[in-house]
Amino acid sequence: MITRTTMIPHSRPSIEAADIRAATEVLRSGQIAQGGVVEQFERGMAAYFSVSGGVAVTSGTAALEVALRALGIGSGDEVLLPSYVCAAPLLAIQRVGAIPRLVDIDLDTFNIDPSAARQTMTPKTKAIIVPHLFGLSADLTELEALGVPIIEDCAQTLGATEQGRPVGSVGMMTVCSFYATKVLCAGEGGMVLSRDESLLERARRLREYDETPSLHPGSTNLKMTDLQAAIGLAQLERLGSFIERRRLLAEEYRTALSGTGLVQPLVPPGHTHTYYRFVVRLTDLGSKADGLHDVIGRFEARGIQCRKPVFRSLHRYLELEGFPFSEEAERTALSIPLFPALTDEDAAQILMALRSEWS
Ligand SMILES: Cc1ncc(COP(=O)(O)O)c(C=O)c1O
Repeated sequence: MITRTTMIPHSRPSIEAADIRAATEVLRSGQIAQGGVVEQFERGMAAYFSVSGGVAVTSGTAALEVALRALGIGSGDEVLLPSYVCAAPLLAIQRVGAIPRLVDIDLDTFNIDPSAARQTMTPKTKAIIVPHLFGLSADLTELEALGVPIIEDCAQTLGATEQGRPVGSVGMMTVCSFYATKVLCAGEGGMVLSRDESLLERARRLREYDETPSLHPGSTNLKMTDLQAAIGLAQLERLGSFIERRRLLAEEYRTALSGTGLVQPLVPPGHTHTYYRFVVRLTDLGSKADGLHDVIGRFEARGIQCRKPVFRSLHRYLELEGFPFSEEAERTALSIPLFPALTDEDAAQILMALRSEWS
């Protein structure tokens, strides 16, 4: 029987002495709520993306909603998004009263398919939410050619590039998540970033309800605390080493899986990958709908927690048909634990399990 303490989790945050020192300093300071440290974190993230500013909020979901509202998107407007992603972008679109228009993915990259996006566009399309899934940039060059304002969703991907351009530096707005298992973690938290100062000013007004000359009906309390921001800042210092460790582990997994017939993560020409998730596709499931569960169960029996990387495709929530690649991804994609805090011993146990499952 495997106990929780011996189970290698699907993901675990990298909390080190620097994070604890940063959090302790804020606690000792007596200034815990949104203040100077949040501003410092906003400046740090803006510098990272080479944009003019950021507005920290409570979550990535809140950041998506604020980005949509700042762009003036509301009732009757249509927003494109992929069908294979977590529910956060869909919920944000619905909360501002806009109409979600789902787009199928490119099965090779798991990202939104630009040509399917073009076919879904109408004169009412006001924005496209572009999540960069699993650590790989979407095809920003093709998506820019659509001529629709892009909201880059970097909740899963920081540091990846497309044609030399870092994710988060291209769209009209960029959103991040600092949830516990994200690339940078602060427990919970999010941020909206942009080069456009007027959009940032609108976002600032939306995240708080007080000390404002006029009331906006979309304003509420979405403030991040200095305590979270201090952890985020300490993590930002180590982002380069986090990505390096992720890439190293990914190379080891690739070697262990080469020649197995599994579909390994693709890195298209002109792209770099940062492996927020190491997602393979199982090609030997036949037409079995629940074959993944058996594989997940076998790994669990070896003390390794694998997961479906997206819980449920969005078209299934909306009871829509015609998203074959999202469906195939949902049926066959498996996420193998890969995170910077993974020890060498845990990595060795995973490598052994990969070889024995698929060699
Ligand atoms: C692509 C994507 N967008 C948005 C979010 C929402 O972020 P949060 O959990 O901080 O609300 C997530 C979280 O899983 C995500 O993966």
